[in-house]
Amino acid sequence: MEKTFLMVKPDGVQRNLIGELVTRFEKKGFHLVGAKLMTVTKELAENHYGEHKERPFFGELVDFITSGPVFAMVWEGDNVISTARTMMGATNPKDANPGTIRGDYGVQVSMNVIHGSDSPTSAEREISLFFNENELNEYTKTISKWV
Ligand code: PPS
Repeated sequence: MEKTFLMVKPDGVQRNLIGELVTRFEKKGFHLVGAKLMTVTKELAENHYGEHKERPFFGELVDFITSGPVFAMVWEGDNVISTARTMMGATNPKDANPGTIRGDYGVQVSMNVIHGSDSPTSAEREISLFFNENELNEYTKTISKWV
């Protein structure tokens, strides 16, 4: 089953959006297999955003993601990588459609509420950067016969 890495950014945490965002992915039908509130170190941030190192906003990106706790998550499901990106909406909230997370809650491109892996390669890399194997909980639903 496909997995992706999603992260509620410091703006989303401070605006009390964790529950709302988790609910969206649960209601869609995806399974949460790992989650934690954590503070991203400068080293982890520079590694995570390494592909953007040469971009003019790199310093701002690192400063922002390390500025307060984030809620890091691993979600599982069919096509979860691309579907989660669709649910998140365009990177710049001004271009994001209503009904998407950034369309509904985002204001600025630098504070756009949520991060999501953009490909299977990124998902694998980002999951292993943020989570140890023993923090991921694979499970089969055992209540499906009666709920
Ligand atoms: S994407 O979604 O990766 O294709 O978007 P991209 O445009 O490549 O942006 C990569 C991340 O950089 C953030 N970003 C910015 N931060 C601050 N200032 C400016 N101008 C800016 N432009 C883009 C953007 O939110 C992406 O962060 P993540 O966490 O990957 O969504």
